[in-house]
Amino acid sequence: MNEPLPPPVILGTGALARFWARALRVLDPVLVGREPPVVRLAPTARAEPEPEWVPRFRSWQEPWIGPGPGVVWVLVKAPAAETAAAWLAQLPAPPAAVVSLMNGMGYEGVLGQAAGSERLVLGVTTDAVTLDRNTNLVVVNARGETLLGNPAGRGPAGRRARQAVEGVLKTAAGVRWRWLEEADMERARWTKLVQNAVINPLSALTGRPNGELPDQIAWRLAPALVGEVLPVAARRGVRLGAPAEVLQAVEALARRTGPNRSSMLQDVLHRRPTEVDYINGFVVREAGRWGLAAPTHATLTTLVRALG
Ligand SMILES: NC(=O)c1ccc[n+]([C@@H]2O[C@H](COP(=O)([O-])OP(=O)(O)OC[C@H]3O[C@@H](n4cnc5c(N)ncnc54)[C@H](OP(=O)(O)O)[C@@H]3O)[C@@H](O)[C@H]2O)c1
Repeated sequence: MNEPLPPPVILGTGALARFWARALRVLDPVLVGREPPVVRLAPTARAEPEPEWVPRFRSWQEPWIGPGPGVVWVLVKAPAAETAAAWLAQLPAPPAAVVSLMNGMGYEGVLGQAAGSERLVLGVTTDAVTLDRNTNLVVVNARGETLLGNPAGRGPAGRRARQAVEGVLKTAAGVRWRWLEEADMERARWTKLVQNAVINPLSALTGRPNGELPDQIAWRLAPALVGEVLPVAARRGVRLGAPAEVLQAVEALARRTGPNRSSMLQDVLHRRPTEVDYINGFVVREAGRWGLAAPTHATLTTLVRALG
């Protein structure tokens, strides 16, 4: 019989971290961050919030003492991936698995190096939650699905990591999840990247909610943004579809999520660092590696950074 895993650890105390803390409450998770959080979840925008709950908390600086943690969820913003990696590197023993649901790309190496790449599980989620930091209210705006996979997980350590994550997820309340094989997971991540690479910077620059974006002049940049990502994805072995098809899907997503303000727009409005370097900036860096150009992504990366 398998030993029960130690409680999960969640790195981050923001919207998604609190949502997952609530989902894993039965396992008594430990949250790691700058300030202890209070969790108060409203299951939908109109529902009565649940009573407040104060999860276990440790600051980034507190060294971990005792047996290594079970599964560690990395739910910070991508620019804090280095902080998460430094925290993982100080553990006395590697965790069973490290799961990142962060948007963007380009942080995998640093997390994999800190935790062991075979234990690194990468995912994307279409759950959409916002946090009001004045009231501590976490509102679930949309219940989606979390897709997970471990790109370097074919060996025994990778199989154990998957087993550990699935064991935790079986107890999770209010989340739908699916495990994907490597190629499907990579495609899901690039699909999310192209969506974010169009919607996020255009919303941050225009200040408009998603549903209004396709009607803005700035949307004229969308075909170029899509057109610059596709060849880069193809070099990585991921075929996302014909440019017109992909653009149509991104437009449909923008309209479907009409009133939402993208996380990049919210970060700009709250004068927080954005994830642009891991979304559009990543496309520029990756294009460069393959001798491709991504001038529209480069310009938008600069413009979004200039807003900060
Ligand atoms: N919210 C969603 O619905 C959703 C959906 C899909 C994907 N995601 C992705 O999930 C990740 C987390 O998103 P979120 O919505 O939870 O963001 P959030 O509410 O802004 O929370 C971000 C967390 O990262 C921490 N953080 C940011 N910069 C840091 C730094 N330099 N050092 C240490 N900690 C830092 C914040 O700490 P403080 O609180 O101390 O500032 C906070 O705990 C992002 O990659 C996002 O794109 C979110």
